[in-house]
Amino acid sequence: MHFPALWSSASVSQHRWTRGRSIIFAVLGILIGASILSNSLSLFVFGEDAATAGPPKNPTIKTESKKSSLSMLLTEDENTKYFPQHPISNISRAAIIPNQLLRTWKANNRADIRLDCHEKRDHPDRYSWFESWDLMNPTTIQIVFNDDDMDRFVRGAFSRRVVEAYFKLPRAVLRSDFGRYLMLYKLGGYYTDMDTTCQVPLYKWNFGMNHVAVIIGVENPSPERDNYLQWTMASAPHHPFLAQVIHRVTEKIHATDALLLETDDNAVLEVTGPGIWKQVVWDYLESKNVNLQEISNMWEGFYLAGDMLILGKAYLNNDNWENPKALIRHHFTGNSAFGWRVHGKTLDSKQPALGKLNDDFDWTYHPPTPSIEINPSKEAKAVPKEVVQVANSSSDALISPKFKVFRDRWIQQNPGYRFTLLSVEDMDEFVRKDCSSDVQTAFFKLPLFKQRFELFRYLRLLKVGGIYTEIDSRPHTPIDQWFTNNRIGLIIGMNDQGHNEGPGFKRTTLASIPQHPVIASYVAKKVAQILERSQSDLERISFFDFFENDFNLAVKMALTERGVNVTRDFRSGLAWDGYLVAGDLLIWGQERFNPSAERDGHSFARWHGDLWDKEKGIWEEDAKATSGIQ
Ligand SMILES: *[C@@H]1O[C@H](CO)[C@@H](O)[C@H](O)[C@H]1NC(C)=O
Ligand SMILES: *[C@@H]1O[C@H](CO)[C@@H](O)[C@H](O)[C@H]1NC(C)=O
Ligand SMILES: *[C@@H]1O[C@H](CO)[C@@H](O)[C@H](O)[C@H]1NC(C)=O
Repeated sequence: MHFPALWSSASVSQHRWTRGRSIIFAVLGILIGASILSNSLSLFVFGEDAATAGPPKNPTIKTESKKSSLSMLLTEDENTKYFPQHPISNISRAAIIPNQLLRTWKANNRADIRLDCHEKRDHPDRYSWFESWDLMNPTTIQIVFNDDDMDRFVRGAFSRRVVEAYFKLPRAVLRSDFGRYLMLYKLGGYYTDMDTTCQVPLYKWNFGMNHVAVIIGVENPSPERDNYLQWTMASAPHHPFLAQVIHRVTEKIHATDALLLETDDNAVLEVTGPGIWKQVVWDYLESKNVNLQEISNMWEGFYLAGDMLILGKAYLNNDNWENPKALIRHHFTGNSAFGWRVHGKTLDSKQPALGKLNDDFDWTYHPPTPSIEINPSKEAKAVPKEVVQVANSSSDALISPKFKVFRDRWIQQNPGYRFTLLSVEDMDEFVRKDCSSDVQTAFFKLPLFKQRFELFRYLRLLKVGGIYTEIDSRPHTPIDQWFTNNRIGLIIGMNDQGHNEGPGFKRTTLASIPQHPVIASYVAKKVAQILERSQSDLERISFFDFFENDFNLAVKMALTERGVNVTRDFRSGLAWDGYLVAGDLLIWGQERFNPSAERDGHSFARWHGDLWDKEKGIWEEDAKATSGIQ
């Protein structure tokens, strides 16, 4: 479902971005080296008007070709050249701001948000504003915390000092201000208030600069130094800038009189809101040797400080939201009948039960490692240059035309490789001819097609080696480039690197030498288990437990045996486009075989489960396997 939706929204937004866009960007200065941000490149880009004539009352719109925007000026190669390491933090260039939208509201689910609008307990447009984010960002989830959710989250995730500060806040609006920083720090993602609409998809907000880890916008430009807004922003989890915001807000709350917090609207601005926010931005930038005056008065352009992207006023504080640069439209309901100023409910300020406090909270940012090598193999290995796929026919002409497009690409991108397309009958035939009798018995005992299809890939890799990839995999990078050296015997990609349960691995594309011990022991274990079970058991078995999760365990065990500390090296450790080598085992970060749609460009191959569903052919989930051993 996501596939077509994504394309159509991408083309809509492309239209938006090209439509009558104005203001010829001028690169005013490329400041390298000691003067600003040692060892980094800072680009300071202003619109022509702002640069020459000061802030325009009604920005004039001139024509600008799409190519002249900054992201277009820099090719991928130039990016790599100018941003090889980021001076402020060593963050991976891939997918560092999670694709999720964080919100805080009095209701925490869309049904209630909609109902409140309908029944006029809330602004009548609230739900359509809310929905605009879904429509522009079909792959982004919205996480909405109500007051209770936020209380629980803070209690469970932060240190005693932070929790005590948070619960000292007597009003919902104060907690919502503080809560957004805490969510951004811990979870990462985009935050926006509940009175905004989305005008440009989130994935474009970094202008194609993939290492951007924090995005903030100018609220009020001024010749001295600009103010920054905190109703819409984005951050990677655990970013040191957000850590500093939280430190400062926490200490400020502790130092502020409780009565003042309850009664003084200014406290909102100064203790938790825009006042302290802008102060921390200034201090943070100055601590990185950014000259605030040089980046002041930013109406139209943007400024990149390491991995922190600062957007001019036009992008987020859209007084003139029809400006085609505006990423959002802000409806400013703070003072309205439903706004926080009118609505500021007073909360129970008693201390929470302290059972779940995490006093060991780690403030330090741990940058992911681009690559890890542990006891790399010294022996040359050659994965056979054969790509094998299974489809409902062994003839290219008879498979789904969509899969044929992918196959043509595989073939075109990988000269020197042999491509083998097997029908289901060929798959069965291979097992009959090339596998031991135990393996045959086990294979044909599997009652479901999906189970045989799963087992086959390991049997094939064990016996013949080469590359196995599912028929709905689209290739992006020639196979030869998947190898980091010539001593690799097995390549596996990560599936969901950020998962709380630890790493998972992708089974849809694998490369192996014949008889690789990791595959051999996994096959031996599966065959023994299948032989032990009754056929009716096998029919009811959990596919996830029996195959997916067990494969994850097998890989984790293999890594542990080769000296990897899986907890340490995968959880926050490995960059999403990085890799880990242990012995002859090569594990690629999630970007390579399980990229998000918009990051296809970084990937090696992407599996299209969504196409799979549509083009079922033989691929019915529970299709009973038909043939037996003969
Ligand atoms: C970033 O990583 C490089 C190479 O791994 C290292 O030399 C550099 O000191 C790191 N920078 C920071 C700020 O950690
Ligand atoms: C693995 O790393 C974790 C986290 O750094 C650490 O707590 C644990 O002791 C390590 N385990 C081993 C066996 O070294
Ligand atoms: C294979 O499945 C596709 C649908 O995915 C169908 O169009 C095609 O006709 C099928 N081919 C054969 C040989 O059954």
